[in-house]
Amino acid sequence: MANYDLVVRGGLVVTAGGRMRCDLGVRDGRIVALEDGLGKSENEIDARGKLVLPGGIDSHCHIEEPWTGGARNADSFASATTAAAFGGTTTVIPFIVQQKGQRLNQEARRYHRIAQESLIDYTFHLIVSDPSPTVLEELPSLIAEGHRSIKVFLTYDPVFLNDLQYLDVLAVARECGALVTVHAENHGAIRWMTERLLSAGLTAPMHHAWAKPIVVEREATYRAIALAEMLDVPLQIFHVSGGEVAEEIARAQARGVKVFAETCPQYLLFTADDLDRPDFEGAKLIFSPAPRTHSDQDALWDALARGTLDVVSSDHAPFRFDDPEGKMINGNNASFDQVPNGVPGIETRMPVLYSEGVSKGRIDLETFVALTCTNPAKLFGLYPRKGALQIGADADIVIWDPNRRVCLQNAILHHNVDYTPYEGIEITGWPETTIARGEIVCDRGVLKAEPGRGQFLAREPYDYIRPSGRLPTPFDPTHGKATSTQRFTRRAGRNGRAT
Ligand code: URP
Ligand code: ZN
Ligand code: ZN
Repeated sequence: MANYDLVVRGGLVVTAGGRMRCDLGVRDGRIVALEDGLGKSENEIDARGKLVLPGGIDSHCHIEEPWTGGARNADSFASATTAAAFGGTTTVIPFIVQQKGQRLNQEARRYHRIAQESLIDYTFHLIVSDPSPTVLEELPSLIAEGHRSIKVFLTYDPVFLNDLQYLDVLAVARECGALVTVHAENHGAIRWMTERLLSAGLTAPMHHAWAKPIVVEREATYRAIALAEMLDVPLQIFHVSGGEVAEEIARAQARGVKVFAETCPQYLLFTADDLDRPDFEGAKLIFSPAPRTHSDQDALWDALARGTLDVVSSDHAPFRFDDPEGKMINGNNASFDQVPNGVPGIETRMPVLYSEGVSKGRIDLETFVALTCTNPAKLFGLYPRKGALQIGADADIVIWDPNRRVCLQNAILHHNVDYTPYEGIEITGWPETTIARGEIVCDRGVLKAEPGRGQFLAREPYDYIRPSGRLPTPFDPTHGKATSTQRFTRRAGRNGRAT
């Protein structure tokens, strides 16, 4: 009897770099063999006719977060991570949220406590909404403890940062080694438009998209990148919604700025027209930035295939629809600005992208793996432990049936939300078995492990967060001194991405 805890036999093993038909051997939670003809093991999975993929990494999901006015995420860490695992995801990156006036340290302790009930491994981004001197002093030790990414909002009333505050956060990130991620929309422009729409009586869910046209996202994306460029801080733009924004990012990448970006399945599937559904149903699709047009969707597919966008996350925001703590917190006729933003999608992220992308021939298998597994692992400092099928990596594996057809219905999902935006959509390709650190956690629709087994992943400094070394002037503002007496940095070409 060979010395493996588990052998996955005869599947097509796919990584971001290629594919190979072989067996995969697991011991002590790690991948220890990738070759043909592995010896027998007591536990075997017959993967012939199936794909063997790295477990997915969902690098943007909201779990147990507060929202203005008392709305609540319906998912706990147990339910969200269970749903994630059924959808082929084995690592999540939710948020530690600092609300105005709160201490970040205290919230970090609280989130670490409640996240212990996770089914799968997790790490955290830090949301800074109030960069007071105390919070800026708390950040270095939190970063050193392995929270190597910070999220800031440039809109949403209770949490948005002005330019000065954003610069303060960027400076700490540069100094301490963290990636800054940003929700980029122009707060003032949205407020101004919203007030005028409401005064004109244009309050329906569809007017959400009128209040925040793509130009407000393009402007804030440009500004977010420009300020990060001024301090030479690597940046990720969250939830890119359309072509103009992707173009802004591509332009910055072409001039050598270390800027990365994600989109989410909802931007590839829905347009602003979908918000115009009767009976407040459009509220289910109120998310920000707003959905755009079909030509924006084409531009996003193009940007994914080219690598301008590196990651597809879910932006899972588990607000229930028919619930006084969810989308209907202000009733079933509330104006669009009074509806909690976001859609659930932690379980559907990989199947929807696979079906719309790979099954429909828009992206190849390797790109699918890169976008959902390998790139988020690299971008957020989890690679090579996570995000790839290679010797020594955690045995986070999904056995994927490329031919299984499923009609998506909320009834078959495992989140605690009462709807899915993808109700009735036909999917081709489905995660059959999910293995996390060598343990089968979900198998053909059956949960096989108990929540509480997930571990926190502390992240060490890594390549992506290293500044490029090109400040626009000889003055280094984070250290408060001149780096040379005379030279200004010349523009360079496209930055090499870490490999
Ligand atoms: O509408 C969205 N995206 N809701 C979740 C919070 C955020 O902005 O990421
Ligand atoms: Zn956001
Ligand atoms: Zn989000």
